[in-house]
Formats: sequence, structure tokens, C-alpha cells
Amino acid sequence: MLQDYQTALVTGASSGIGAATVTKLCERGLEVHAVARRSERLATLAESTGCRVHTLDVRDTDAVYATFGDLKIDVLVNNAGLGRGFDTLAQASREDIERTIDTNVTALLHITRAVLPGMLERRRGHIVQLSSIAALYPLLSALYGASKGAIHLLSQNLRMELQGSRVRHTEICPGRVKTEFFATAIDDSERQQSMLEGFELLEGGDVADAILYALDTPWRVNISTIEMTPTEQAPGGIVIEPTS
Ligand SMILES: NC(=O)c1ccc[n+]([C@@H]2O[C@H](COP(=O)([O-])OP(=O)(O)OC[C@H]3O[C@@H](n4cnc5c(N)ncnc54)[C@H](OP(=O)(O)O)[C@@H]3O)[C@@H](O)[C@H]2O)c1
Repeated sequence: MLQDYQTALVTGASSGIGAATVTKLCERGLEVHAVARRSERLATLAESTGCRVHTLDVRDTDAVYATFGDLKIDVLVNNAGLGRGFDTLAQASREDIERTIDTNVTALLHITRAVLPGMLERRRGHIVQLSSIAALYPLLSALYGASKGAIHLLSQNLRMELQGSRVRHTEICPGRVKTEFFATAIDDSERQQSMLEGFELLEGGDVADAILYALDTPWRVNISTIEMTPTEQAPGGIVIEPTS
């Protein structure tokens, strides 16, 4: 349960799902370490929530181990991530591929590796990986799907590796969420906007609520995977109720 935990580390805390998660964890009394690159955003979040901030690029592996290796973290929310290459892999740039895999997969592995030994030693902890429905179903993005699919099988295997350690593990697979994700993913502003319109998307706070649900279950319960989508979005397509 959340009351079993005292500290949390949330990456990608400067907007969207991460900022909402930091806010809710601080409200529940945890000491939260919030990580992102945009320092002004983090400063504003710290003012409103009391979280501790780390201005850091999660792809900076040396900084990751130096900053987090010695922290006593009970809850790790690996949320920093992005989607590029939505115009097919054939049109993705080298930078799109490297940035997506380095952030979504490699950095997530290093942060987990930095924090996990302490959890195992204390026999207390909960790791939450921000995955996607793109990890579970084809959604017309080979690059993003590859990065989130990697998180899915990492999660399933890590869950097995953690058996007997008392450390819990949860993968969260959201559908479309109204955040800055599409501003980063898509260069054309009209197409960005079109991803946020036409039906009612999830909000960052909805996903944060799912994370807190998994954290707050009694210790004997491990919520392994949460798949959640907007009511009007199902894998395979979008069906919007006619307005008559
Ligand atoms: N929005 C969706 O529809 C959706 C659906 C399924 C899954 N997800 C996943 O949910 C997670 C959160 O996304 P979101 O929707 O909340 O998007 P967002 O609003 O764009 O937030 C992304 C966060 O990641 C941080 N970040 C990105 N690259 C980073 C880096 N190299 N180092 C440190 N921080 C970095 C950003 O902070 P800085 O730019 O300040 O560093 C930002 O705080 C992602 O893993 C995403 O793949 C999103």
C-alpha cells in the first residue's frame, strides 16, 4: 500500500502524466524526486507540490547512476518517453530512431538498474513502467511500437526476476492521453492538433490515478499490467457516437 512507501522517483515530471503523478504522490505524503530536462517547469512543480527536483537528461547514463544510485527509492515511475517516426519507419530520421530507443528503452533500463539493488536490499519497492497500448497492438508506428514492445517484455521478465524479493512491478498501457506528447512526436502543428481532437482523450491525471491504484493495493496484490483507453478508442480503430 502507499503507506508502506516513503520515497518516489518520477521521470518525465515536467508535463503530462509525470507531473500529475508527482502531484498525487506528494498529496499522499511521499517524498518525491521529480526528473526532467526543463528546469523552469520543475521549479514550478516544486513550488506547488514540495517535490525535490533533478534537472537531468535520462539519456546521460553517468548522471543517472551518480544521481540515483545512492538514493533510497521505494517507488520508481519510469515515465519519461516520447514518440517519433509516426510517418513510418521508412521516413524516420536517424535521430528519431536513436532518440526514441535511447530515451524509451536504454534510459529506462539504466534507471531501473540504478534503483533496483537498493529495493532488493531493503526488500521493499514498486517499479512502474509507462508503456502503451502500442506495446500490445499494432498502431501504425513501427518505431514507437518497437520501443514500447521492448518495455512490455522487459516488464514480464522483470516480474519473474523479482519473484521472492517483495518488490512489485506494474506496466501501465494507456491509449491516447491529452498531453504534450503529440507536440514532441509530430512536427506539423495541424496534425498535432488533430491527435487531440475528435473524441475525448484520457487526461494525465487519469493515468496517474491508475498508477496510484496499483501502488495502493495491499502488499499481497501485484497489479502486473493495466490497459486503459479513452472510451471512444479501442485498439483497431476509433468509433465515435453519432451526434444525430
Ligand atoms: N500521451 C499519450 O497518448 C501516451 C499514450 C501512451 C503512453 N504514453 C507514454 O507516457 C509517458 C509520458 O508521456 P506524456 O503523454 O505525459 O508526454 P509529455 O507530456 O510529452 O511528457 C513527456 C515527459 O518526458 C520527459 N522527457 C522526455 N525526454 C526526456 C529526457 N531525455 N530526459 C528527461 N526527461 C525527458 C519530458 O520532460 P523534458 O522535456 O522537460 O525533459 C516530459 O516531462 C511516455 O513514456 C509516453 O510514451 C503516452
